[in-house]
Amino acid sequence: MERKGLGFVGFRTLLIVGSIVFPMLVTFTLLRQNSIFDIGEGFSKINVMGGRAKNAVTDGLKGGAKNVTAPTRGEVHNETHVLEKEAQNVSAEDKRGAGQNITGSEVVLKENARVGIPGILEDTPQRNTTPDVGPKNYSYADVENDPSPSTSIGNVELLDGLLASTFDKGSCLSRYQSYLYRKPSPYKPSPYLKSKLRHYEHLHRNCGPHTKSYHRTMGTGNRSSKKNVASKCKYLVWIASNGLGNRMLTLSSAFLYAMLTDRILLVRFGTDMVGLFCEPFPDSSWLLPKNFPYWKNWKNVETYENFRKNDINTYKGFLPSFLLVNLQHSHDGHENFFQCDNSQDLLQKVAVLILTSDQYFAPSLFMIPSLKQELSKMFPEKDTIFHHLGRYLFHPSNDAWGLISRYYEAHLAKVNQKIGLQIRVYNTHRTPHQTVLGEILACTHKHKLLPELDMQKSVISPLKNQTLKAVLVASLFSEYGEGLRTLYMKKHTVTGEIIKVYQPSHEERQRSNDNMHNIKALTEIYLLSLCDALITSQKSTFGYVAQSLGGLKPWILQKAYGETIPDPPCQRLMSMEPCFHYPPKHDCMGNGIVNITLLFPHIRNCEDVNSGFKLVNLS
Ligand SMILES: *[C@@H]1O[C@H](CO)[C@@H](O)[C@H](O)[C@H]1NC(C)=O
Ligand SMILES: *[C@@H]1O[C@H](CO)[C@@H](O)[C@H](O)[C@H]1NC(C)=O
Ligand SMILES: *[C@@H]1O[C@H](CO)[C@@H](O)[C@H](O)[C@H]1NC(C)=O
Ligand SMILES: *[C@@H]1O[C@H](CO)[C@@H](O)[C@H](O)[C@H]1NC(C)=O
Ligand SMILES: *[C@@H]1O[C@H](CO)[C@@H](O)[C@H](O)[C@H]1NC(C)=O
Ligand SMILES: *[C@@H]1O[C@H](CO)[C@@H](O)[C@H](O)[C@H]1NC(C)=O
Ligand SMILES: *[C@@H]1O[C@H](CO)[C@@H](O)[C@H](O)[C@H]1NC(C)=O
Ligand SMILES: *[C@@H]1O[C@H](CO)[C@@H](O)[C@H](O)[C@H]1NC(C)=O
Repeated sequence: MERKGLGFVGFRTLLIVGSIVFPMLVTFTLLRQNSIFDIGEGFSKINVMGGRAKNAVTDGLKGGAKNVTAPTRGEVHNETHVLEKEAQNVSAEDKRGAGQNITGSEVVLKENARVGIPGILEDTPQRNTTPDVGPKNYSYADVENDPSPSTSIGNVELLDGLLASTFDKGSCLSRYQSYLYRKPSPYKPSPYLKSKLRHYEHLHRNCGPHTKSYHRTMGTGNRSSKKNVASKCKYLVWIASNGLGNRMLTLSSAFLYAMLTDRILLVRFGTDMVGLFCEPFPDSSWLLPKNFPYWKNWKNVETYENFRKNDINTYKGFLPSFLLVNLQHSHDGHENFFQCDNSQDLLQKVAVLILTSDQYFAPSLFMIPSLKQELSKMFPEKDTIFHHLGRYLFHPSNDAWGLISRYYEAHLAKVNQKIGLQIRVYNTHRTPHQTVLGEILACTHKHKLLPELDMQKSVISPLKNQTLKAVLVASLFSEYGEGLRTLYMKKHTVTGEIIKVYQPSHEERQRSNDNMHNIKALTEIYLLSLCDALITSQKSTFGYVAQSLGGLKPWILQKAYGETIPDPPCQRLMSMEPCFHYPPKHDCMGNGIVNITLLFPHIRNCEDVNSGFKLVNLS
């Protein structure tokens, strides 16, 4: 009874506050939306010349679009328009009944209420308003150890028990809403992985920042200590390097390593990472406090190389408390023997490891003999490491989630199929944009991801086929999105399907150090991961993250040189796991690794980087 009454009051408050806040929000949303996504601006034309591309596909290009001026920005591409229309239909009364449908803007606008203008809803009773987002009929599964039944969350929302159920929903909307946007994963986390995660959360709670244990360990500064091994809490401090894709890959590897070695993962986020992700661990923080003794001068601590080279006796029992482990590919010719038990035995003696890397080094953990068995128990399906850990760790912050969910609902929610295109062009290859575009078409047509264009101007009416496909293009260059959009606007498709092309943002060059850039990058990665099929570029960590989060095996575009479209244009990956680009070259005895598969059946050379390693599932 009481809860019902409270609920009513809360609801009324929401109504009143909503009616005041709503017009502000709409304005705010529109302003933000427009400033953040710049679709097609700056594009003027694409000259699709014949070149030497002989492929039938490119004939389409040639015939269709010799000097195509960009189409007007009408239709759905006028985002202002869409959002305005949607906004008109929002009634404060959320009478929507059942279903998983992602339709209205109710969800979006409520999100904004919390996201956009912090503090404005502060006097609204949290408990009664927050869980109101999303569809009504959650499938309540019994969630173990849930202290508050009133906020209990279904197993579907928890991604089959991967996520802890004890978070406040409002603080991180994406955590429990992602299931509305992504199909349920066919890959289930093992019970053992789930128990390891819950165990880790417990440990993090007890050892995290601002706990006694934390102060005790970090307070030692650079003094050495004999008590290291005995100290209860050990830490792994992660330092960012390289772009967002690399960072997400190394973070997940670091987290796995932390779990396996009973360390607490703490991240040193600069301003470019702050506000990007939610806190992943309940009742604690993964952010390294700024008073960490080596916040700035982390490069000055004793290095892993020295530690390994020196005779342990030179330390006379006073081992370093802090150790820098640099696993960046450029650092030591990737000859660090990190994957060897004797190295691991040494590392185990140090209380705080400061780790910096730009690599997905998770496969090397599978090479560590003492960890192999544990890993197999955690991941019976070996190609699901990033899929599970990525979905566990990386929840877009409310700001980022606002962008993702609004974009999704404006463009992708109602289409029958979503094709993600992630195009990274390396300057060194000097491949003209139209060659890449031709390659994309050759690939999508060959694998029936997109229909061919109808060159005969035949009489098929598009009305016959109501299938609507969306192509989401992520690239630094606008030419791809515009080129595709133009093609599919000029001609019908042979199947009569309607193709819509969207490119959320493009920046012409990659930057690595500002927060808005990373939020946009995360938005694109996440949107790609919500697609039904993916086409990605070689060696792109951006693509790896999207494919693994989405549980997708993408088609990967082959390297094109000059104006020749490669044949075959693309190749399907054998596993959704990211590639470890610069793996160890030697085994622990110092012998060159000739054939990794002979040593480790679950590891193969990557399709896109021959010398790289990736995990595969053996079925
Ligand atoms: C493309 O069309 C524009 C305007 O129609 C024209 O000014 C330009 O010269 C054309 N470019 C090429 C390469 O044909
Ligand atoms: C978008 O649509 C709105 C509303 O119809 C219109 O006022 C505005 O001019 C359009 N913007 C562009 C760039 O087409
Ligand atoms: C608003 O909703 C009504 C029915 O609820 C629908 O007919 C109408 O098309 C919607 N308008 C917009 C702009 O979506
Ligand atoms: C929601 O309820 C509808 C109708 O009762 C049902 O068909 C649907 O399966 C339910 N969805 C979930 C996620 O339980
Ligand atoms: C929700 O989706 C189902 C199919 O998934 C569809 O039958 C139903 O009409 C949709 N409801 C609304 C309100 O869009
Ligand atoms: C740590 O090392 C620096 C020099 O590297 C020294 O100045 C400082 O006093 C040391 N701090 C402690 C607590 O030993
Ligand atoms: C409509 O498109 C779908 C998907 O490509 C295709 O399977 C189907 O044959 C098409 N229908 C017609 C009438 O062409
Ligand atoms: C490596 O060994 C595997 C398993 O025996 C074999 O299938 C594969 O062809 C070998 N690869 C190379 C490059 O020799």
